[in-house]
Amino acid sequence: MRRPRSRSTDVRQQHPAALLLAAAALVVTAIPASSAVAEPGASATALSGTRPYLDSRLPVKQRVVDLLGRMTLAEKVGQMTQAERGSVESDQTQITSLALGSLLSGGGSVPTPNTPEAWADMVDGYQSHALASRLRIPILYGVDSVHGHGNLVGATIFPHNIGMGATRDTALVREAAHITATETRATGPQWVFAPCVCVTRDERWGRSYESFGEDPRLVTRMTTAVEGLQGRSTKDLARNDRVLATVKHYAGDGDTTYGTSTTGDYIIDRGITKTSHKRFAEIDLAPYVTAVQVHDVGSVMPSYSSVQWTDVPGSEPIRMSAHKELLTDVLKQKIGFDGFLISDWDAITELPGDFATQVRTSVNAGMDMFMQPYNAPQFIQALTAEVQAGRVKMSRIDDAVSRILKAKFELGLFEHPYTDRSHIDTIGSAAHRAVARRAVAESQVLLKNDGKALPLKSSQRLYVAGVNANDLGNQAGGWTVTWQGQSGNTAFPGTTILQGIRKTAKNVTYSADASAPTAGHDVGVVVIGETPYAEGVGDVGVGGHTLNLSATDKANIDRVCSAIRTCVVLDVAGRTQIVTDQLPKTDAFVMSWLPGSEGDGVADVLFGKRPFTGRLPVSWPRSETQEPINVGDRNYNPLFPYGYGLTTG
Ligand code: BGC
Repeated sequence: MRRPRSRSTDVRQQHPAALLLAAAALVVTAIPASSAVAEPGASATALSGTRPYLDSRLPVKQRVVDLLGRMTLAEKVGQMTQAERGSVESDQTQITSLALGSLLSGGGSVPTPNTPEAWADMVDGYQSHALASRLRIPILYGVDSVHGHGNLVGATIFPHNIGMGATRDTALVREAAHITATETRATGPQWVFAPCVCVTRDERWGRSYESFGEDPRLVTRMTTAVEGLQGRSTKDLARNDRVLATVKHYAGDGDTTYGTSTTGDYIIDRGITKTSHKRFAEIDLAPYVTAVQVHDVGSVMPSYSSVQWTDVPGSEPIRMSAHKELLTDVLKQKIGFDGFLISDWDAITELPGDFATQVRTSVNAGMDMFMQPYNAPQFIQALTAEVQAGRVKMSRIDDAVSRILKAKFELGLFEHPYTDRSHIDTIGSAAHRAVARRAVAESQVLLKNDGKALPLKSSQRLYVAGVNANDLGNQAGGWTVTWQGQSGNTAFPGTTILQGIRKTAKNVTYSADASAPTAGHDVGVVVIGETPYAEGVGDVGVGGHTLNLSATDKANIDRVCSAIRTCVVLDVAGRTQIVTDQLPKTDAFVMSWLPGSEGDGVADVLFGKRPFTGRLPVSWPRSETQEPINVGDRNYNPLFPYGYGLTTG
């Protein structure tokens, strides 16, 4: 199945073709329910005497073995299946009859109204159906909290990872992730598809802002995000302020060759990583080793992309969902990953062969749970048939299910399957926003500051231009309320950069298109940048995306910087843009990345309330054709090198 790609269909669960498919596929053997739908608050303790797996005093290992021994093949295959909530919403008894192991909210798949309480009610409703299954195995509910609980209106929205990488502040990354975990778990989901520990080697990639940077050592340091989400040990997972984390997209997703995308409509996303074993280990694998061995990450999401070995004669590209060497031999056996692998959204359907082959290949390569948004029943049918035909061994199924059950026990779901809403009042609280605001301030990278143009003084008469000065959606980027994100100030609460500026400076003229008269101003502040995108939709060369500045942004710089003595330019974008010709026209230039909901943090550094300390997490190219450009390259000649950043204060 193809997934919705265009902006008009970016609420994935509503894609008509997908719904049709889901409806057509609903013919699978039903599994008997235990009784009526379990009410929130219902206790399993009465049964724990007869069913050791329900006894929380027993070690997790023993509980897993006990439960596994009671399960039928259908129940095991069900545990390995994850469906999109939209595909079960109208008939939730499927959760019971298919014995589903997990549900997810894809980007923009939200309850109505999109409030914390409605989220918790929604997840608890699904949970009650899972608990009505014969063995009362709770579901895991997963969401993409990639920069805060981004799907939820009112959540604290942090800078995307590229900005967090600019802070170089591993403790702050941990703290932001902890807040994200708290806000997410209070609304039901106990599992997040974050952090992305991708290493972005080419900023033409539409996901480069999901990366902490181009240097694997930096990305590796930022795996403190896993600790922030999960806690210090698996013992913390059952807490109401922690969630199971997922490192993604294993591995090499940011290191693909431009023009090799295997899906036709993208250019670099889902492409081919052409590399040697040695280089792959150094660049792409490194963060996973730390995430697993130091932070004990609970799940890993294999990438859509492929790996092709340059040190193996005749090596063909193999998609990560089918890469047995990298999933089983390297990740599980060599690195020692004992959590579970979750496939990416419908990723197995991009493998060669018919559906049965795709399922068999991936599960035999080591995939444990399958994200089958709208075709879960077909998946269950196919995997069951493969096992019955002996093409997938029962030992592989048992291994996969044990890994999934382990996470459920560690998360305390058997004891507390329903949402602990204690922290619901902290969602988007002043305390949480204060941390995000600090993160924004620390993420700002000052690249030029002639004549000490910055910091600004509150007494100066400011002329602010550019749409991105006053657009929350643009400053938050993709994965915010919807999958692709959206421009505008109405989708979620927060503070724009302009609002932040106005809290300090009293004399501010704002003219989005720089058409207002410029006379009588001391400093021009031009905010340039991008509008939101996500995944391959944002690849350079797709839908008009480019690293070059728009004509409007160039015109704004030209007009404001030629008319007002001092001129400061801020770039609100997910990636480096080509500013080589514009830079000489400015006095100061700041890379703001995608700061999220707290524009105040940008104002803090502009006015010197905090110093500029951010440093480039990627090399800044002189031209689009200079990509890919990375620190350590031969003949390295960027506009600004990796790690560059001026300080003030
Ligand atoms: C993305 C993943 C994401 C998943 C679920 C996929 O398209 O590649 O990063 O976790 O969707 O939303």
